[in-house]
Amino acid sequence: MNFSEMEPYKIKMVERLKTTTKKERKKFIKNAKFNLFNLKSENVLIDLLTDSGTNAMSDEQWSEIMLGDESYAGAESYFKLKETIEDLFGFEYFLPTHQGRASENVLFSALIKEGNIIPGNAHFDTTKGHIESRKAEAIDCTIEEASDTTAEHPFKGNVDLNKLQKLFATEDNSNIPFVIITITCNSAGGQPVSMKNIKDVAKICKDNDTMLLFDAARFAENAFFIKEREKGYKSKTIKEIVKEMFSYVDGFTMSCKKDGIVNIGGLIGLRSKDIYQKASTYNIMYEGYLTYGGMAGRDLGALSQGLREATKYSYLQSRIGKVKYLFDKLDSYNIPIQKPAGGHAVFIDAKKFFPQIPQSQFPAQLLGVELYIEGGIRGVEIGTLLADRDPKTGKNRYPDLELLRLAIPRRVYTKNHLDYVANKIKKIYKKREDYNKGLKIVREAPILRHFTVELERL
Ligand code: F0G
Repeated sequence: MNFSEMEPYKIKMVERLKTTTKKERKKFIKNAKFNLFNLKSENVLIDLLTDSGTNAMSDEQWSEIMLGDESYAGAESYFKLKETIEDLFGFEYFLPTHQGRASENVLFSALIKEGNIIPGNAHFDTTKGHIESRKAEAIDCTIEEASDTTAEHPFKGNVDLNKLQKLFATEDNSNIPFVIITITCNSAGGQPVSMKNIKDVAKICKDNDTMLLFDAARFAENAFFIKEREKGYKSKTIKEIVKEMFSYVDGFTMSCKKDGIVNIGGLIGLRSKDIYQKASTYNIMYEGYLTYGGMAGRDLGALSQGLREATKYSYLQSRIGKVKYLFDKLDSYNIPIQKPAGGHAVFIDAKKFFPQIPQSQFPAQLLGVELYIEGGIRGVEIGTLLADRDPKTGKNRYPDLELLRLAIPRRVYTKNHLDYVANKIKKIYKKREDYNKGLKIVREAPILRHFTVELERL
């Protein structure tokens, strides 16, 4: 083993893991109405629910917590973050918010009107929620390969340029205020978008006088894949790649709970002073004053440091290497997974894992429930529950991909933990034919239902 294969850090503080018995877990999940969000985290052994806000901060980030300037306006921590944002992304105007969906709420309040169309690559659920709640429509223009888990495309998050062009040809351009590219594309399996694709989408937007935005939650992981997989980028640094990626967009929303390596925080970046000023009013109403938004001064400092750490090649090599480690293990057991490996998670194809369970019985959720019972491991369904009902027809939307996502928090688990996870999945896979019935909904919210849905076994 050489340096590039090991963690580029050592561990200074540890957190105890509590074990439970299978019998206890059966009771816990039933009491949780078969919704993994309802479990107490102390009853979860390995928590792969999300990589969002679950990151381990570095000693330098914790130092920033102590240095935080908590002044209401003009805090030093804000200017520290401003310098980092200018340096990494080349953006002069930005607004801090408390998390990604808050950035969506603020920016979309300034940009989206009823009846608008917002094309993108498999919008994340909160993004779609903030579009649809404004009576606008999110149109998915991801390339076809994304919905075939066996297709080995290096940039499965790419936007299908033909689909996008067709939309512009048939719609009044003034009805498309912006296009949003999610990097990496979470809903398609943490799959990256190539620099070429970003550039091509930017050209289409420019030709049609429409803005291009990033949903930049996992921008650094996307940059790593460009370096590894795209011709012409091998010798570029992650910072250079990030700078180029952002040079093509007019703005971005970012959940900093991912590649900001912090536990809470969000950002909006803008080039236009005019839109910045419009969004500022909503930021003050919904989030907080312009120099702190939804964050404490200490959090702004920790985020500034986290963004710098996330754009280090050695960090990304270890981070994405760990995801690949779990991916390779599962692949070696022939477990059906989204290929190639994504940036933040491994996605199990539940339609292939449990072909006997129809999508109407939520096979990915069933797999999540069974994995919790088997090993105290918590994943999350990225499938029919997450897809919500069609707001017009009220019918379930059945997405092409029915996945169980195992998201790996940054700098938290070791390879031993991931070996344990792989073993438990293998165990369920061996007896997969014993599972004959899925789940049914007993209560659900009208939007973003997967967080609070209540289910029972059929
Ligand atoms: N965009 C993407 C691509 C996301 O993955 C998320 C959150 C958001 C926006 C919203 O950000 O949570 O800070 O409000 N994803 C988390 C996840 C929840 O588990 O994938 P947020």
